[in-house]
Amino acid sequence: MAKKKELRIGLIGTGFMGRTHSNGYNRVGNFFPKLEYKPVLKTVCSRTEDKVRAFAEQWGYESVETDWKAVIARNDIDAVDICTPNDMHAEIAIAAAEAGKMVLCEKPLARTLDEAKAMVEAVEKAGVSNTVWYNYRRIPAVTLAKQIVASGKLGKIFHYRANFLQDWTINANLPQGGEGLWRMDADVAGSGVTGDLLAHCIDTAMWMNGAIKDVAAVTETFVKERVHQLTGKVQKVSIDDACIFHCHFENGSLGLFESTRYARGHKALYTFEINGENASIRWDLHDLNRLEFFDNADASNVKGWRSIHVTDGDQPYMDKWWVPGLGIGYEHSFIHQVADFLKSLETGEPCEPTFKTALETQKVCEAVLEAAASGCWKDTGVDL
Ligand SMILES: NC(=O)c1ccc[n+]([C@@H]2O[C@H](COP(=O)([O-])OP(=O)(O)OC[C@H]3O[C@@H](n4cnc5c(N)ncnc54)[C@H](O)[C@@H]3O)[C@@H](O)[C@H]2O)c1
Repeated sequence: MAKKKELRIGLIGTGFMGRTHSNGYNRVGNFFPKLEYKPVLKTVCSRTEDKVRAFAEQWGYESVETDWKAVIARNDIDAVDICTPNDMHAEIAIAAAEAGKMVLCEKPLARTLDEAKAMVEAVEKAGVSNTVWYNYRRIPAVTLAKQIVASGKLGKIFHYRANFLQDWTINANLPQGGEGLWRMDADVAGSGVTGDLLAHCIDTAMWMNGAIKDVAAVTETFVKERVHQLTGKVQKVSIDDACIFHCHFENGSLGLFESTRYARGHKALYTFEINGENASIRWDLHDLNRLEFFDNADASNVKGWRSIHVTDGDQPYMDKWWVPGLGIGYEHSFIHQVADFLKSLETGEPCEPTFKTALETQKVCEAVLEAAASGCWKDTGVDL
């Protein structure tokens, strides 16, 4: 077998996403053996030396850094992978692009549209490969849904509906800000559920159903003040705890989206449903190997929702895994994204969603927040 080309990774941030990405880099070669490139875990960065050393040992990184600027300054790094909270995305991505590094960035691309635009400009000016980890696209059942929609089987689409429900912030005594709780601090996160959760739903929706044209929205902050973990003071909560928006898609269909962290009993319930003239599909993250499909062309005596177990070799990505009938999990979506990024280096094709595509999701997020603040419909300016 030909010697593989190396993609030397510098990963920044060792929390939840640092682990999912490291797992992706470690496992991709075993399951996608034909790729020309292989990731090499050159360095990992986090601010605390002993913690980052333990992480490096656990996941197999060759070295550690405690300052992200040192990662970018190294000439043995080809790609910078940003797994930090949202307030660091723009600064790191722009510096990495200016240094000629490829950039893989966690979602949402940025806190604001202005930050996101500067990031797109930076990667395009530098001409570096880039991608944003909207990983749900790469769950096989979701990829299959995209293929079914693209085949035209649903006919004219009337409705797109998505929810992303959690319940971890109901306790009013939960502090905001700092390690583990930065999502509650608007200065760091940019927004609440809109950027954190709805951004995923918007990315998937526009990938499958095209541009979102305009939006009307309502947001709520149920707990108005919380102790800030870093200052120890009671401070105003500025994130949206819940957001509901509806919209028009460019293709004439209507969209309805809801996200909250106050839906008792739901941990990470991402669901979507698409209703077309001829057929409908729906998907549920808690049962991620299944795609539900209703085809109005079925004979009436057997007509009903089919539950497709997406585990067969002719279904997206599944020829790389076990035998038909055996499911895979959440972590595989990241392995698939690593594989697709490596493949994009071979083919020269972009690894979607690129920064430019993720900017369109950012436009919708910003329009949703503005619509909620003003109580008026807002054009998104999405240009897909
Ligand atoms: N794709 C997804 O489904 C998904 C899921 C969760 C989080 N995310 C995104 O991933 C990013 C990280 O989220 P997370 O859940 O992993 O957060 P986390 O809090 O678990 O981890 C963040 C990491 O960044 C490190 N960090 C913070 N500031 C740093 C700095 N200045 N230099 C170096 N390291 C620094 C922290 O020490 C920590 O290791 C966020 O943008 C988030 O929105 C995406």
